[in-house]
Amino acid sequence: MSPFRDGILEGKVAFVAGGTSGINLGIAKRYAQLGAKVAVCGRNPEKAANAATEIGEGALGLSADVRDYGAIRAAMEEVRGRLGPMDIVVSGAAGNFLAPVLGMSANAFKTVVDIDLNGTFNVFRGCHDLLNLPGASLIAITAGQAVNAVQLQAHACAAKAGINQLVRVLALEWGPDVRVNGISPGPIEGTEGMARLAPDSSTKTKHFDRIAMKRWGYIEEVAECAVFLSSDAAKYVTGTILDCDGGSQVGDATQRSLEKGLA
Ligand code: NAP
Ligand code: COA
Repeated sequence: MSPFRDGILEGKVAFVAGGTSGINLGIAKRYAQLGAKVAVCGRNPEKAANAATEIGEGALGLSADVRDYGAIRAAMEEVRGRLGPMDIVVSGAAGNFLAPVLGMSANAFKTVVDIDLNGTFNVFRGCHDLLNLPGASLIAITAGQAVNAVQLQAHACAAKAGINQLVRVLALEWGPDVRVNGISPGPIEGTEGMARLAPDSSTKTKHFDRIAMKRWGYIEEVAECAVFLSSDAAKYVTGTILDCDGGSQVGDATQRSLEKGLA
């Protein structure tokens, strides 16, 4: 049962960059269910069109690469032209793969930083004069790698750490008119990210051991956090990163094994 009442986002316009699959599509669908007019974008136009159909009547599915400032700016201008000034902008596009630094070319590192960090800069920088001000809400989708060093994740650790700081700086610079926050999901069941980062049972066990709540997260749970941050319930919340991870970051696996031993 959702804590949010139907129609809570009525009259709002939401744009979700990287909203054509997985967690971000779940956020877009929830915004639409609660009354917002919604647009999503990804690189693949067919995937974007299918996502729009899944979100529901009136949703826009656009094609743009967040690494290309002109393309993402044009997509957001189209959203403003067809749906109106944006109240909510989510930057969730990401790329990831497991690789040690010595198995990563300079272009491999750059590719992930370009999509995650520079892409988030492009989305947020490009949306500002297309927002409905005051009161707009921007949300970056970050990850635990921003604060925890994780082997085989140098690119994502660096990129997501940069995103967390960008969120804080923008909250300061745009404070009176725009709220800027992040959501840091833990391992979310049935997603591309999980498939890539926990490809076998031993890696899954390592991730699972970190989770205080002893279950994987659901896309819908991340979506509820996004609704909270986009709603008036969070009207005094800015510059924060909301962990939606079942407590994955409050201890480490060694600590948990010790606790188990003492119990
Ligand atoms: P996903 O299904 O692969 O979603 C990625 C989305 O971004 C897709 O819509 C993809 O569409 C789009 N995208 C990728 N590169 C793009 C680019 N250059 N320009 C524009 N769009 C691009 O991933 P997910 O697992 O749901 O993850 C979603 C977000 O949650 C990411 O920010 C990820 O870091 C974060 N996260 C996920 C988990 C998890 O457990 N899955 C945990 C922590 C954080 P196209 O391929 O068509 O471009
Ligand atoms: N290990 C090491 N290097 C890798 C790699 C891997 N598993 N996968 C890709 N790379 C390297 C490529 O070899 C290339 O480097 P090079 O030019 O020196 O050879 C570089 O990364 C870019 O790869 P490319 O396939 O050209 O990039 P792309 O822009 O087409 O795709 C990716 C971006 C690689 C991030 C791709 O995995 C993607 O599109 N991901 C989106 C979905 C996703 O990752 N979802 C999970 C989000 S948590």
